[in-house]
Amino acid sequence: MKSLLALAMIVVSVSAASPAVAQTPFNDVHPVYLANCSTCHAVSGFGGFNIAASNITTAYQQSQLASYYSQGQTKGFATLVRIQNGTMPQGAGCTGNPAQDAGLASCVTAGEQAAIAAWLADGQAGPVQQTGTTFCFGDGAGIQCPCGNTGITGAGCGNSVNAQGGRLVATGTPSLANDSLILRATRLPNSSALYFQGTDRANNGFGTVFGDGLRCVQGTVIRLGTKVNAVAGSTFPQVGDGAISVRGAIPASGTVRYYQVWYRNAAAFCSASTFNLTNGVGITWAP
Ligand code: HEC
Repeated sequence: MKSLLALAMIVVSVSAASPAVAQTPFNDVHPVYLANCSTCHAVSGFGGFNIAASNITTAYQQSQLASYYSQGQTKGFATLVRIQNGTMPQGAGCTGNPAQDAGLASCVTAGEQAAIAAWLADGQAGPVQQTGTTFCFGDGAGIQCPCGNTGITGAGCGNSVNAQGGRLVATGTPSLANDSLILRATRLPNSSALYFQGTDRANNGFGTVFGDGLRCVQGTVIRLGTKVNAVAGSTFPQVGDGAISVRGAIPASGTVRYYQVWYRNAAAFCSASTFNLTNGVGITWAP
């Protein structure tokens, strides 16, 4: 804890602002469609589309077809309209108001509706191929977030700009011989983000309360670098940063390492602390 506190307090070299990153890829909403819409929109093609196809690329393509219900929009856009006006999922007795629908398992929850709204607002970005395993979510399923600031599955605890919580994903190849791993943190305030690596998961991967969020990564901690978020997110590494395997001193034989992003959140929110964290990501490094 002591070393991580030090890590939290001392934000060293702050590099130039990061380019914009798509905040909400289709990966964030595909699970919502899988869970609520698959009986009729996975293979049956009701309404002329299969947004709940198990193949994420197919499902995304289907989401981009033209809607007959919301003229001039995509079918993906129409999904939120029909969820909120209570006409989908068809025949499930949902009103579309999550408060009224509480307890009805087939209805789309407030958090799920918020995820679709975020995907639409961010321009309906397609799926990204993710690497590794995300863990330690602030979704209330494991350790509770410190102030009831529950995020969504796949993200950390809610922050002052995004109630779903900061989200960390990895893309690219985690191999010493061919390292193209990129860490990508989104749904953050436009403040500084410290990317760090550890040798262990905290509390068996459930994390422990830390600041306004959960600390997911512990053991021997290495600070990879600090970025200034732009358009609510950042990536690491960028040109000039060097590969993660080098920054993280990954041994030649390969190994498992865990990653997380600590970010400043100075607005009055949750605890007196001025920081929060994303979920964690576990990466198995190949030689
Ligand atoms: C029990 C079957 C069933 C389920 C479950 C279901 N749908 Fe549908 N859906 C239909 C049928 C039938 C149609 C075509 C008739 C219509 O438009 O009402 C349709 C049409 C649609 C359309 C219109 C397509 C367009 O071009 O505008 C959208 C959008 C839609 N569904 C979204 C959803 C979403 C989102 C879910 C899950 C939250 C869902 N549906 C779950 C049966 C279903």
